[in-house]
Amino acid sequence: MCGIVGYVGSRPATPVLIDGLRRMEYRGYDSAGIAVIGADGALHVKRAEGKLGNLAARLTPDAPEGTVGIGHTRWATHGRPSEENAHPHRDASGRIVVIHNGIIENFLPLKRELLAAGVSFASETDTEVVAQALGAARRAAPGRPFAEVVRGVLARLTGMYALVILSADEPEAIYAAKWGPPIVLGQGDGEGFVASDPTALLPWTRDLVFLEDGDLARVTVAGIEVTGFDGTPRARAPRRATWDAVSAEKGGYPHFMLKEIAEQPTVVVETVGHKISLETGRFSEDAMGVPARLLAEVERIHVVACGTSWHAGLVGKFLLEEVARVPTEVDYASEFRYRAPIVGPRTLVVGISQSGETADTVAALQEAKRQGAPTVGVVNVPGSAIARLVDGVLATHAGPEIGVASTKAFTTQLVALALLAYYAKGVRTGVPLEPADPFLVSLGRLPAAMRKALELDHALEKLSRTLQDSRDVLYLGRGTHFPIALEGALKLKEISYIHAEGYPAGEMKHGPIALIDRDLTVIGLAPRDALYEKVASNLREVKARDGRLVAFVAPGDEDVAEMADVALTVPEVHPHLQPVVSVLPLQLLAYHVARRRGCDVDQPRNLAKSVTVE
Ligand code: AGP
Repeated sequence: MCGIVGYVGSRPATPVLIDGLRRMEYRGYDSAGIAVIGADGALHVKRAEGKLGNLAARLTPDAPEGTVGIGHTRWATHGRPSEENAHPHRDASGRIVVIHNGIIENFLPLKRELLAAGVSFASETDTEVVAQALGAARRAAPGRPFAEVVRGVLARLTGMYALVILSADEPEAIYAAKWGPPIVLGQGDGEGFVASDPTALLPWTRDLVFLEDGDLARVTVAGIEVTGFDGTPRARAPRRATWDAVSAEKGGYPHFMLKEIAEQPTVVVETVGHKISLETGRFSEDAMGVPARLLAEVERIHVVACGTSWHAGLVGKFLLEEVARVPTEVDYASEFRYRAPIVGPRTLVVGISQSGETADTVAALQEAKRQGAPTVGVVNVPGSAIARLVDGVLATHAGPEIGVASTKAFTTQLVALALLAYYAKGVRTGVPLEPADPFLVSLGRLPAAMRKALELDHALEKLSRTLQDSRDVLYLGRGTHFPIALEGALKLKEISYIHAEGYPAGEMKHGPIALIDRDLTVIGLAPRDALYEKVASNLREVKARDGRLVAFVAPGDEDVAEMADVALTVPEVHPHLQPVVSVLPLQLLAYHVARRRGCDVDQPRNLAKSVTVE
């Protein structure tokens, strides 16, 4: 939800902090700040409301000097976006600063206790309560090692937090405590780094240490020491990052989102990787990352996810049931554990998450494990919380997805879930996929079909002019294209702020048809599949009520294409892979509408890339 970063070493800290915050701005961007220990031994804090650029403007020319510092870019939870509420937050002495990602649930009683002790607060945030509690504990025991002061305060906190703490009285060390939201540390040559995710560290080091819940790390130029909150040492071996910094840059595109849309044919190939041989149809259990035994014995599959990943789960349900014949339920992760779910050793719970850090999905998987269910994560970030939590990791290889609106993560999730369905079928029936199987043949042709679909870009840019002033847009699809209708609607609403809804086409006559008039644009998804005729008649109902119909059809379509106001042809692939291609024009359409409306495509208002609070 927020971006946190820290540096200790011999370089000037400010540029390192600003570069790290820039790479993590997609995690939250309503205010930002840094704190650096200056040559005078004091903490120098600079903060600004709004985007990181506002903070950077305040740093020229008087950037704080010093080689140790921390920085934060915020997505507001407690306290409106403002400079006063921006992190870092200080204690009364000004000698301790804290930055924070998460929510301190018991901040109010702690604040009341500190207010009663005469402490005054400068902000509305829960984070300042931690800073003031550290200051009060420090004053109460001035001779106590700061690490013990930190541990004492951590023991009193409840909630979810990634905390980074810096004291002017111990300028050589940065403390990082994790309970929920991610913290990754970097070890360089005579320098140490702290961040919310690897993208901020990649320019400096690829030797990363991922903290686990309950870890307290002390980062110095000499290295990283990790203990529990109780002080007992904990071994956290460094991992070598597989991504490089360049892949997390825009690469000449105007927006990360457009770059990531364009990358999809390539990253789909990366995601298939060695999971299956296109020549023989043989799966590699190792590359799939899902032990066959997890699929052999289960009676049911239960998918938990949020947002776009939940849409991928809905498509996955169709495939897991149709191909592998495994009853599959799909739940919003935020709903799953509050409805007394019935799972157990015979239910495989699959968490789908690009970031691998979404709090609701992490919590749902933890609940599943508590009930004894085997778990699998479909995740894009290696080393993420979900990747470390589950029994099997079905990895998507989309690379860093910086645009808040998920695109390449979604299509790679769809491919991974299609592979999971066929893999499960092979495991459960013992019948391998034949090399000439139409699915396998189509899988090999998928990147070319995706590239062809992306060639609709110019037509979609033109079409976007007719949508940019829309008040509402309705997306209709059936079968595996109902979730694609949902996804298309989510893309449009989250980056252009136009209200949009996805609906099963057959459901339209049970209510939404009342919305249809000449002012309403309906996006109709009409692939040539078993439900085509049904969709065609639903879309005819739209036209009969003067609705404006934009249809996405298969090559050679004459029926729906004839009735539509605008018809765009989408390349045809195997029905189990068609959603991967059908979603591409919807991503581009949303992108162009948002651009025309002057919206911030990569960092839409109120949103953040990874929702690490519930
Ligand atoms: C998708 O465009 C949104 N940014 C959002 O719905 C996202 O899919 C959701 O928050 C889940 O994130 P995750 O895949 O990282 O768990």
